[in-house]
Formats: sequence, structure tokens, C-alpha cells
Amino acid sequence: MSMKPALLGGEKLISQPLPRELFTWPILNAEMDQAILDVLHNRKMSGLDITRQFEQAFADWHGVKYGLGCPNGTAALQCALYGAGVGSGDEVICSTCTFWASITQVYSLRATVRFADIVPETLCIDPDYLEKLITPRTKAVMAVHVYSMPAEMDQISAICRKHRIKLIEDCSHSHGALYKGKITGSLGDAAGFSIMTGKSFACGEGGIMLTDDREIYERAILFGHARRHSEDLQLEAYKIQPGKLWHCGIPWGGIKGRLNQFTSALGLVQLKKYPAEMAEIQAAMNYFSDLIDEIPGLKSIRPADARSTKGGWYASHMIYDSAALNGLSVTAFYNAISAEGIAGCYPYGYRPLHLHPLFQTIDVFNEGRPTRLSCLPEGIDIRENPGDLPLAERIGSRVMLQPQFKKFDKKAIELYVSGFRKIAEYSKELLSVDKGNPQEMGKWFMSAI
Ligand SMILES: Cc1ncc(COP(=O)(O)O)c(C=O)c1O
Repeated sequence: MSMKPALLGGEKLISQPLPRELFTWPILNAEMDQAILDVLHNRKMSGLDITRQFEQAFADWHGVKYGLGCPNGTAALQCALYGAGVGSGDEVICSTCTFWASITQVYSLRATVRFADIVPETLCIDPDYLEKLITPRTKAVMAVHVYSMPAEMDQISAICRKHRIKLIEDCSHSHGALYKGKITGSLGDAAGFSIMTGKSFACGEGGIMLTDDREIYERAILFGHARRHSEDLQLEAYKIQPGKLWHCGIPWGGIKGRLNQFTSALGLVQLKKYPAEMAEIQAAMNYFSDLIDEIPGLKSIRPADARSTKGGWYASHMIYDSAALNGLSVTAFYNAISAEGIAGCYPYGYRPLHLHPLFQTIDVFNEGRPTRLSCLPEGIDIRENPGDLPLAERIGSRVMLQPQFKKFDKKAIELYVSGFRKIAEYSKELLSVDKGNPQEMGKWFMSAI
């Protein structure tokens, strides 16, 4: 057995923190500095030329026809929803365990959301649950590849085709991730990506929508892309006749959604360097995960299909099984590994959105009804009760964020894993200092409520 845990008075395993560059993100280079300076000195911060190059290159990477740069991922997904035809009285189905910006945009389109439970092994939407939520009002499914894990797209696509509803991917966590050999972002009718600094494909505040569908692309431009109307609208239905209508420069219902060109310029550099960075992360995180899978009570979350990958492993998680560790709570496990000097690993999973007041009671637009219901016919109540989505509601006590290795340093990874192993070995003894989990686990990242 290893030496006693630090939390029980033993010696701390890691007295010096690991080198910062193992975890530093994003990785910068001189080409990025130059790209920013070029935009600045050419006074092109607000133009479209660099953005158009980035849109095309990003779309090409995905084998998709159209890319549309947006100010952030939230706006890219809003464009995709509007593009897909989501409007008044429509329902969009989404997993309840995601960041609010996967779906809250439906309110701005006078639509609403139906929340689905998750598959416990992947943390992504449960396709069987999803299908049960379909009504005549369902317009689209938002499939989030959450924490870099591709959602079960074959089954989800088949359901969407069968019911003739649109499929949108939220790829804000899955840049470069493959589902059965195909890149996420190319698997539905449209996709939206966040490319803000913390994300795997990190550029700065920004987002991009992808689609193969000309109608979705043009509707998205109409909605929030002032000044592109005269150049980009080709379909008769969406063409704005110059001179006839005055609004060539006015977004159609949305707000101006142009991507700033600092971000586009960084995006062009990222496209060159991301494949190598992703390969190194894959090697490091797969090695870490292989070792973690040998420890009782811990299990990496990885795709079952050998052709699928987790791309940049954004905010990846592992499953924590308290029962296999003598009932030790995930909070006590976390306290014990922290005392050993292990950083960047803690209990954390998205707290289910369906329990948040925004999806229960809040009246955003002063309509005298909860906004979740205000677009629906009187008498229809789609709100969930606590306990309705049980797997999602239990997520907080059974997942842990993994340390996010950006460099493959075998020794450092092995050192970290030995800390996890040590604590697992002492799980019984650690029960003496286990105060259990707090009543509320996980985070909403929406408000202090
Ligand atoms: C799953 C998910 N979807 C959408 C977004 C929205 O992206 P942005 O912050 O760029 O608006 C995020 C951002 O963190 C996210 O995590």
C-alpha cells in the first residue's frame, strides 16, 4: 500500500506544482502576434475580408459548404436555430446538462425548450428520451457534444429524419472531435461553435456557424448579419431587392452579428497549428485515461467506437463511482487528492438546466407567464418536476473534471495518477474525514440562484 494520505497526516505526494506549460492554454506563437498586428495596422478590425477567409477555411476543414462568423458561440447557435426555421411556438429538444448558451436563445426566437435526460456513461443527450419528447410543435434538436464527448449521432439523426425535424450540433466543446470517423459539426443540418479563449479551438470572443444548406445559411445572414445582404443572398425567397427595400444593411430581427477580425485572423493561424496540438492532447489524455481506468471507482469517459475521438478534450471528465470506493463521497476524494498536490481536478458537472428558475418560473418579457410556457397554447405545461430527469439530476455526485494535460509528459501524468491510486487505496480510512457531498452539486454558470 502507498504511504498514508496527506489528509490523514501522511506526506504530500507532490510538493512542487507541475510545470505550468503542461496545462497552459491556448498555446501562442509568433504568427499569432503578427496576425493581430496586421489586422491592427491595416485598420481591418471591423471588415469582412479576413472573416470570409476564416469562414471558408473552417468550413473546408469540416467538409461543409458554408461558414458564418459570429460574435460568439451563443450567437452562432442562435443563427443556426433561426436559420433552421425555429420561430414562434416551436419547441427545441436539448439535453438538460449543458451550458445555458446551448439553448436559452430559443426565448429570443419566441420558441421554447424541452429538456431530455442524459446517457450516464457519456453525459450526452439520451436519444430514446429525446424521441419521447417529440410533439407536433418540435422544430429541432440541439445535440451538444458535451465536454468533448460526441453525442450518439446515428440514432439522433435517424430520429430527426423520421420526424422531419432539424438537427443542430453545439460543437462548442468538440472542435476536431470525430464521431465514427466523421468530424463533429458536419453531422446535422447546422452547427454552432464557440471559439472563445478557453475553448479547444481558441481564438478569442467569437463563434462560427456551419451548414451545407443554402436556406439555413441565408436565413442566418438575414437574421443578424447586417451589410452582407446584398452580396450573400442568392435564393429568391431571401433576396433583398436593392432600391426596393431599404434594409440592405439592417439585420432582420436579430442584432448585428459580425465577427471581429482579430478573432478571424487568430482563427486562420489556429487552423494551421490545431491538428498537431490536438494530437499531443489526445496522446496525453489517452495515456492518463488508460491509467485511470485501472483504478477501482474511476472510469474515463471515452467513445466506445474506435473511429470516434474527443478532439481537443475540452473540459473532459471522468466517472466517479462512490460505491466502488467504500462509499467515499466525490467531495472527500477531491479533498484528499488536493491535499496530495493534484490541481485542476474537482467534482463538477453541469447542474440540470430544467431545475433553474429561468426554465420554471421566470417571466423574461413581462408577459404575465413563465417565458418557458409563454409561446405555447394555454393549458400546455412542459415544465419538469424535480426527479423527472433522474440521471441528469444525479450527475454532480458522480463526475469529476480531469486535469487537462496539453502536453504529453509521461512522468508527470504517472505522478498525478499515482495520487489518484493512493487515495483510492485509502478510501476506507478516508471515510473518517468524509463529511459527504454538499446538498447542491454542480454548477449552472447562469446566476447565483
Ligand atoms: C456548450 C456551450 N455552448 C455554447 C457556448 C456559448 O459560447 P460563447 O461563450 O462563445 O457565447 C458555450 C460557451 O462556453 C458552451 O460551453
